[in-house]
Formats: sequence, structure tokens, C-alpha cells
Amino acid sequence: MKTLVLSTDNKNKLKEIKEILGDLDIEIMAKSDIYDLDFEVEEDGLTLYDNALKKANAIAERTKYAVLSDDTGLFVNALGGEPGVHSARYASEHDDKKNREKLLKNLEDKEDRSAYFKTQIVLIDEDKNIIPIEGICEGSISKKEKGSQGFGYDSIFIPKGFDKTFAELGVAEKNKISHRAKALENLKNKILEL
Ligand code: IMP
Repeated sequence: MKTLVLSTDNKNKLKEIKEILGDLDIEIMAKSDIYDLDFEVEEDGLTLYDNALKKANAIAERTKYAVLSDDTGLFVNALGGEPGVHSARYASEHDDKKNREKLLKNLEDKEDRSAYFKTQIVLIDEDKNIIPIEGICEGSISKKEKGSQGFGYDSIFIPKGFDKTFAELGVAEKNKISHRAKALENLKNKILEL
């Protein structure tokens, strides 16, 4: 594998992926680096896998290179796994603060605050083989927001073994233990096996 096209233009994701795969001899390209891939895919799947596959397929149909897509969700056990696949639009589309507030409210009367983040990656190689890879970070939901770094649900998620939220721990610490970091490490191992 010489070139890998990502199904995203998100700068943070691009940076993290480049860092973790840095010592492999692979050119990593954002969606917009490749001719005309300026389209959006509706993330209407029932699972993270459905959405990741849909995004990866949309690009794999248009390029000969290997393609990588990912989808992430926060799964809260006492809420039957919600917000899960709906994490980005739990209360309101792309309004992280409203999403966090809704989650804290729905957990107000619950004892069990355990939760996990899951990142689902789909890699489609040059031969169009579909390779699913995942990473999970277990933890719990705090009683209130804490910390100022990060994004999304970072200020209410406490990873297992820590007493601080992702937003208090900061990006460098988070990137050592996060669901996305684990998924990318698993991806790297998979690529080395190919
Ligand atoms: P995406 O699939 O990476 O776009 O993630 C979907 C949603 O999950 C985002 O809109 C965020 O609200 C949330 N999310 C994903 N990754 C993280 C994370 O590392 N920390 C906090 N929230 C996250």
C-alpha cells in the first residue's frame, strides 16, 4: 500500500493519523487532495460500521487507491447505548454543548454512569477488500462538565483508571489512550500484516 485516501478533510484527524502511521512508508491524503471528491455522504446508517462503510465505499468507487474512513460514537450503558451512532446529533446537529447537556440531564437519576467511546474504521485496500478495525475506550460520564480542552463529549467523559475528564487530561494524554488512538494502532498492525 503506497497511498491512503481518507474520507475526511478534518485537520485534527488527518494530523493524528499521519502521526500514528508516520513510520510506515505511506502517503496519506485528505479527501480534498484527490481530484473531484467534493461530495458529502449522508450518515444515516443504523451502526457506526454502516456509516464508515458508506463513506469508504463512496470514495473507493472513485479512486484506485486504498481508502480509510471512520465513525465514532459514545455509548452510555444506562441509556441502552445512546447516543451511540447518533452522537453528533443527539440533541442538535453539530452542537456539542447541547448534546452534552442532554446527556447529563438524561443521566440525572441513573446510578450507572459507565460508558465507552468506540471508533469504527473501515479500510478498503487497492483490491477493494473491506477490512473493519475498531478501538474502544471504557470510562464513565462525570456529574458535570470539567476541563476546557478537546471537543464533543470530552468534558464529561472520564476514561477508566483516571479521575479527570478527557478535557482536563488534554490532547497529548488523551491521544495515548483514546478510542481513536487504539483504532489507529490496530490499523497500523493490520497494515503491517497486509
Ligand atoms: P465522528 O464520527 O468522529 O464525526 O464523531 C461523531 C461525534 O462523536 C462527534 O460529533 C463528537 O460529538 C463525538 N466524538 C467523536 N470523537 C470524540 C472524542 O474523541 N471526544 C469527544 N467526543 C467525540
